[in-house]
Amino acid sequence: MIRLEHVSKEYLAGSGLPALNDVNMEIEDGEFVFIVGDSGSGKSTLIKLLLKELEPTSGTIVINGRKLNKIRRRQIPKFRREIGVVFQDFRLLKDRNVYNNVAFAQKVIGESTRMIRCNVPNILSKVGLAAKYRSYPRQLSGGEQQRVAIARALINRPKILLADEPTGNLDNTNAWDIMKLMEEINNDGTTIVVVTHNLEIVSRMNKRVIQMNKGVIVDDSGRPDPDVKDSASDGGSYGENSAFGESTGSYGRDFTAFSRRDRFFGTAGTYGAGGSAYEEDFYDAGPPVDGGDDGDAD
Ligand SMILES: Nc1ncnc2c1ncn2[C@@H]1O[C@H](COP(=O)(O)OP(=O)(O)O)[C@@H](O)[C@H]1O
Ligand SMILES: [Mg+2]
Repeated sequence: MIRLEHVSKEYLAGSGLPALNDVNMEIEDGEFVFIVGDSGSGKSTLIKLLLKELEPTSGTIVINGRKLNKIRRRQIPKFRREIGVVFQDFRLLKDRNVYNNVAFAQKVIGESTRMIRCNVPNILSKVGLAAKYRSYPRQLSGGEQQRVAIARALINRPKILLADEPTGNLDNTNAWDIMKLMEEINNDGTTIVVVTHNLEIVSRMNKRVIQMNKGVIVDDSGRPDPDVKDSASDGGSYGENSAFGESTGSYGRDFTAFSRRDRFFGTAGTYGAGGSAYEEDFYDAGPPVDGGDDGDAD
């Protein structure tokens, strides 16, 4: 559950219009929500507040029953494990292959090698990349790179997946593939919040849409009517629809490992954050298990 109560964010005091201005919002567990709005309307600010990357100037944010302003600094990595995040620019480690990009998120939380060897192939097959585990990011298409980022975001079983313009660098077919993958992830129970400019996709997906403008919510469709749910999977102008099933089909509904969450993730200890694209947290977490600084912390 995500709740914002009268949240405002002003980057520079007295600088005029705040980036967010008295925003109220509630997103229930298991929802799929699009956030749309012109550039500068406050969407990325909202995402950063949810990740506790920024503090609100005023107002309260509650995630999974916890007030964010009550979370102590040393508890932040653990808090962020409940939230997976993906970005427009993928943020993969360039000198690591697909397997190690995903495995790293587990290493930093202290997962055992034995479990990593089980979990990583499992999640890669769910995002349709099982065959590419040895590839490096530069050898992958944009769509494939975003799948790796999604696998990394999900590997530590977050309850919430946040995506800031995840399809901004992708062509229409890949963008649609990624959205259908997110829909599958949502069907498995993960709450999904997607910031996007792609209004064609938004209208075809039939999800809740929150529209922002100049730091305020100007429209909220609420939860969609389930009776018209199938409009998005109907072909239409996306003539390549037959390919969608193939590329998302390997993402099964059976997240069996999830039921073992407590056993595997309840004792993560004092390591840095995992499951996120926070390279700085990765670096803070001590030396990577497979050796060497990767040198692209720019
Ligand atoms: N680090 C920052 N410092 C000062 N102003 C910022 C900063 N980040 C964003 N802003 C301003 O806050 C407003 C909202 O930005 P942002 O949340 O990035 O919008 P969006 O993601 O919808 O394009 C914009 O006016 C932007 O210029
Ligand atoms: Mg933005």
